[in-house]
Amino acid sequence: MTSHLSARHLASVLAAGISTLALVSGTLASEMTVVPPQPDFPAQAKITYVPRNAIEEFRSLPSYLEPEWVTEQFVETGALPPVEERLPKEPLVFKTGNMPDGIGVYGGTLRHVVGGRPEGWNYQAGQAQGWGGIDIAMYECLTRTAQLYQVEASDMEPLPNLAKSWEWSEDGHTLTMHLIEGAKWSDGVPFTSEDVIFMWEDNIVDPNVSPLNGASRETFGSDTTLKAVDDYTVEWTFAEAFPRQYLFNMAYGDFCPGPAHILKTKHPKYADTTYDEYRNGFPPEMLNWPVMGAWAPVEYRPEDIVVLRRNPYYWKVDEDGHQLPYIDELQYKLSTWADRDIQTIAGSADLSNLEQPENFVVALRRAAEADAPARLAFGPRLIGYNMRMNLSGNGWGEPDEREEAVRELNRNPDFRKAVTMAIDRQALGDSLVRGPFTAIYPGGLNSGTSFYDRESTYYYPYDPEGAKELLASIGLEDTDGNGFVNWPEGTLGGQDVDIVVSLSSNYTTDLSLAEGLIGQLQQVGLRVVQNAIENNQFDNQRRAGKFDWMILRNPPALASVMQGTTGLAPVGPRTSEHHRAGPDGTLDLMPYEEQMVDIIDRFIATDDNAERAELMKQYQTVVTQNVDMVGLTEYPGALIVNKRFDNVAPGAPIFMFNWAEDAIIRERMFVPADEQQDYQLFPETLPGKLGGDGPVSG
Ligand code: GLA
Repeated sequence: MTSHLSARHLASVLAAGISTLALVSGTLASEMTVVPPQPDFPAQAKITYVPRNAIEEFRSLPSYLEPEWVTEQFVETGALPPVEERLPKEPLVFKTGNMPDGIGVYGGTLRHVVGGRPEGWNYQAGQAQGWGGIDIAMYECLTRTAQLYQVEASDMEPLPNLAKSWEWSEDGHTLTMHLIEGAKWSDGVPFTSEDVIFMWEDNIVDPNVSPLNGASRETFGSDTTLKAVDDYTVEWTFAEAFPRQYLFNMAYGDFCPGPAHILKTKHPKYADTTYDEYRNGFPPEMLNWPVMGAWAPVEYRPEDIVVLRRNPYYWKVDEDGHQLPYIDELQYKLSTWADRDIQTIAGSADLSNLEQPENFVVALRRAAEADAPARLAFGPRLIGYNMRMNLSGNGWGEPDEREEAVRELNRNPDFRKAVTMAIDRQALGDSLVRGPFTAIYPGGLNSGTSFYDRESTYYYPYDPEGAKELLASIGLEDTDGNGFVNWPEGTLGGQDVDIVVSLSSNYTTDLSLAEGLIGQLQQVGLRVVQNAIENNQFDNQRRAGKFDWMILRNPPALASVMQGTTGLAPVGPRTSEHHRAGPDGTLDLMPYEEQMVDIIDRFIATDDNAERAELMKQYQTVVTQNVDMVGLTEYPGALIVNKRFDNVAPGAPIFMFNWAEDAIIRERMFVPADEQQDYQLFPETLPGKLGGDGPVSG
């Protein structure tokens, strides 16, 4: 692997004190210009591209294997049916040729650390499981896209998963999907189209429910319908012809069904309950939650740990017939995101997405040492942050008078320009980390995506004086001499303008960025107050539209374009992060937003790669020229994995179509027998009865 070398190389660059390239000079500040080139970043892992069908296929094998202790303690005692009866007719088979280290061995523990906290298991109704890949381990989705980082662009289509194949009707308006047949939830109950339709009708389409990552009908097209044909077939109809783009949204995190047989017991349509009771009816204490994923939660100790054990009904195998996963246990220590980096570097945890630049230097130094317990590999510049302004002028989030006045400012192009001109992005980046990591990022697509075109990326260079003039030109001046601009006469009594910026307090980087932003805006007389709140609360508030401004790490659409494309513009009432419909269900779009919507609609409707590339250039131009989002910084992230693990997909970026916890295919990773340590908390146990005491032994 190149990663080790790269880490060493980078560490020496840092030691020599070489810092970022200076900004290209010569342009008049405040004049809109094309963004300067990103500093060269030498340490990116190389990716070997493969055709899509090299990764997996669905077929039955002559015989199947499972860990010996499962056979002896569970099957032979009659507690479980034999493995071949627990598997679907045609399991998903990972091809050996695509496994970096080949067929694996059973056993071992994958120790994670997370900064999130579980709200409960009802992902389908919007509850968080604590992030860091807990939900990704538990829930499987119709298609899978995280692995597409290694698929050639000409072959770009989601991988099958719970949907094992699909065909389009001749006119392209109907898509028939075949689900895996005979697969079961981890409690042994069959997985069928009922689970898929329940996800669609009663979670995605039901306006009272919003799944965790915010899917709504529009995520799949405004007039889209879905119905069951039989237990293992579902049929989509679309207004557009061949909208293949929606197949991407059927992957994580928008179409990952939960167990209908359990969830229905508390959904208001089927039970005498409220929507709140539905959302919150499955707390993290309810152990042994049924999953389609490789591991099910068997232990939860608040502020301490979540433990997941292998799912005995998991429906994926290797070519020798070993039922996956190889790894018996996943652990999630409940701590902080910064601690995840530190522990993984130190060897007391196994996996981290190094995504907070504040930890880059210490991580690189340690990874460069010969006895380092973990490997570290950087990917492309795909981690980005924007400051998003709430652009709803018609009541999303029920604003009060001050909030409404702020929204009017947000909708004023000169105000947005003034704000972006007041930001010294070089200083902001350097405050996180020095070195060739962060780049001037004006917003829109991240420079690491294949769709990125620098010539279409505009920005207003740092110009605090120009920003002040622009603010004055729209009536925002410091009339009482206290250093902060006031509302014009007649608005809010002419008092100081004050704006609240919301952010997640769980990330050091978000806090650093907020601090820098607030300080810089103060220089132009804008008083911004920070509202840093715990991540789950932040997510709930921002999705409810309760913010003036927010600092938001970029969603996958800005890092991959193909994933979550509907999130790139307000194409539906609930698709955009910062502009959703008001209480009457309508969107008050500004003309440039209409343009964005039109571009995204056309992007979804076309299959022509050249046209797509062209449309994304237009998108980037409209977004950056109109300052639809205020870019703060972007930089590469690095994947850190303990060296005892094999089959870690090489070059997996920490974030592109999805997070690395999905991209690296954990169900295929293994620890060679001689490196297996005694880390398991519940050895030789399996998930027990729902709500019961935890895992059971045979
Ligand atoms: C959090 C972390 C990411 C990643 C995701 C996975 O957001 O910050 O690095 O682990 O969870 O869901």
